[in-house]
Amino acid sequence: MEIFIGPDHEWMTAEAARLVTRKMELSVRANGIFTAALSGGETPKSLYRLLSSRPYRKNIDWRAVHVFMVDERFVPYAHPESNRRLIQEMLVDRVNLPIDHFHPIETRYRTLSHATIAYEKQIGAFFGLRKRSEFPRFDLVLLGIGEDGHTASLFPGSRALKEEKRIAVPVRRSGSRPARITLTLPALNNARTIIFLVSGKRKASALERVILEEDPLLPASLVRPNRGSCVFFIDKEAAEHILNAEVESRVSE
Ligand code: 6PG
Repeated sequence: MEIFIGPDHEWMTAEAARLVTRKMELSVRANGIFTAALSGGETPKSLYRLLSSRPYRKNIDWRAVHVFMVDERFVPYAHPESNRRLIQEMLVDRVNLPIDHFHPIETRYRTLSHATIAYEKQIGAFFGLRKRSEFPRFDLVLLGIGEDGHTASLFPGSRALKEEKRIAVPVRRSGSRPARITLTLPALNNARTIIFLVSGKRKASALERVILEEDPLLPASLVRPNRGSCVFFIDKEAAEHILNAEVESRVSE
């Protein structure tokens, strides 16, 4: 686990963009391809904006990149909370990514289960997975953390956290909150690189429990790649409670 703490959101975005492009270059050089599973939410928007601006847009070989999704709300594309729409509008549509290199979680299916199975099939076919319990090996998984310690659509206490065989599972939520589809822990933890982006005071307590206490009740604490690296980019506000602690951090001012 590598933890980098810096002054603000802008710093975090720039550092993440640098690491993502370095990983892309290495992966494309070695294997001719780079696969990334991206999250929605507020935090990564600035990263998508940066990656789709010059010079990133020009310098990245987008023809070698394949974009997947970490999770999605079971809502139509036009819905303001659609992660697909966010990723498509802020990144995919703005760079030279070939149209069939975007592999979204489709929500046009009649049921949540159908949509989940379709996404698992899509991933299975792409990565050539032959049996159940085989997992894709994404070059990059980009994650955020919620104030309650959730990550992807893996919420505290959820049955989804126990999943060991499936790549993606449906997540039903209480009240009027839209149901979701999420990659599972074994799918996330099989990645080559996992990057967490965490910014803002509101995240400070959850982050303390995830990084210092490694509290297993918080789903983000359960994200630990089996044979890959996990990098946290955290701004000062979110790092408020861990700044003085003895974590392996590099403060970059
Ligand atoms: C989503 C996510 C979710 C997110 C966290 C943090 O679609 O909302 O995948 O796990 O990363 O909730 O969200 P913010 O970046 O909006 O704080």
